[in-house]
Amino acid sequence: MKFETLAAQGFIDLKKQNHAVSTPIYANTAYSFDSVEYAINLFDLKIEGDIYSRLSNPSNDMIEKRVAALEGGIGALATSSGQSAVLITILNIAQAGDEIVTSDKIYGGTYNLFSKTFKQMGITFRFINSDNLEDYEKAINEKTKCIYTETIGNPRIKIADIEGLAKIAHKHGIPLVVDNTVATPYLCRPFEFGADIVVHSTTKYLSGHGNAMGGMIVDSGNFDWNQNDKFKMFTTPDESYHGIIYAKEFQNAAFIAKARAHLIRDLGCCQSPFNAYLTQLGIETLHVRMERHSQNALELARHLEKHPHINYVIYPYLENNPDYALAKKYLKNGASSLIGFGVDGDGTKFIEALKLFIHATNLGDVRSIITYPAGTTHRQLSDEQKEKAGITNDFMRASVGLENIDDIKEDIDNAIEISRS
Ligand SMILES: Cc1ncc(COP(=O)(O)O)c(C=O)c1O
Repeated sequence: MKFETLAAQGFIDLKKQNHAVSTPIYANTAYSFDSVEYAINLFDLKIEGDIYSRLSNPSNDMIEKRVAALEGGIGALATSSGQSAVLITILNIAQAGDEIVTSDKIYGGTYNLFSKTFKQMGITFRFINSDNLEDYEKAINEKTKCIYTETIGNPRIKIADIEGLAKIAHKHGIPLVVDNTVATPYLCRPFEFGADIVVHSTTKYLSGHGNAMGGMIVDSGNFDWNQNDKFKMFTTPDESYHGIIYAKEFQNAAFIAKARAHLIRDLGCCQSPFNAYLTQLGIETLHVRMERHSQNALELARHLEKHPHINYVIYPYLENNPDYALAKKYLKNGASSLIGFGVDGDGTKFIEALKLFIHATNLGDVRSIITYPAGTTHRQLSDEQKEKAGITNDFMRASVGLENIDDIKEDIDNAIEISRS
């Protein structure tokens, strides 16, 4: 099946779901066992089936299968949020004493998780402040367990060189983990460029309507956990699960098997079936929405480029963007909804004059959303720190929605005029 068909119809088993055309919400906690033998086989992970909804649920299973297929992966695990998808992914491969190499231009929530919470747990992140692949390689040592990046970095809209990073990671026997939230598999499939694991905040474009928190971890099935002795969590017995050796039992499907059997079981950050249902509805229109998000954002970017009171525009598909070549290589069907620009006027007046753009901290909603990082998310930083993070006082980050493009442009133009009065 092609992408659009998988998104709209993939994995629906009409007989299994009482001929309901849309997979229902299985608001259900536990599942009955036909026999003791059946229960034993389930608990020993010998057969597939549901035990308890912290571990799996048919509503979650539907979106796990669809996102795995859309990404070109072999398995996926739905989590309660994007944050918990990142948390479980890192804990699945790293423990106290280990290190991870990443960019300093990643989403602020992930940056905090890496620099504070994981630091307290003894996992060290090396943040690279450069686009130079050699700087990533120099930061790798024998304790490094993966390279972590974002396809389209949030909020500065930087494009990662996935293929280059994957080559470096594999040279050192470690996987490349990519947060593909802002691109979605419709614009970029990181596995095709050598990435090993993909994570998503499904809260954004995959659910798409700003109404369901969720996350997803997808495994390409390509990374060999046995190739060196770095990944003992996969190659030695898990005493908390009858001494199972994940890489032996599940071979190339070990990543999701361990994340589910060990980490979702222990941490409990599973996705609610209601949110999985809302996300299923979103996935069904993903390709149509991403096309229009990208079309509207590019048209707004071109409009703002010519505006006399706009200081700069950041959009990867603009020819003068420093990441234009990377964007053309990695983003095949468009460059998504995120656009950054500097307003030559009063930032607060600009934000408050907008009528159509909603002032909020989210992205990937059908509605246009504007965020003023210097006045909100990065307010606590000094001017110098903001400058370093690329968050100047004039910087606006917008997620361009699916409204009529003329209304979108008019709203921004009016607000610029008011910001200068
Ligand atoms: C790129 C990226 N990754 C992860 C997250 C975290 O996702 P969630 O808010 O669903 O926990 C976000 C949230 O904005 C994000 O933009």
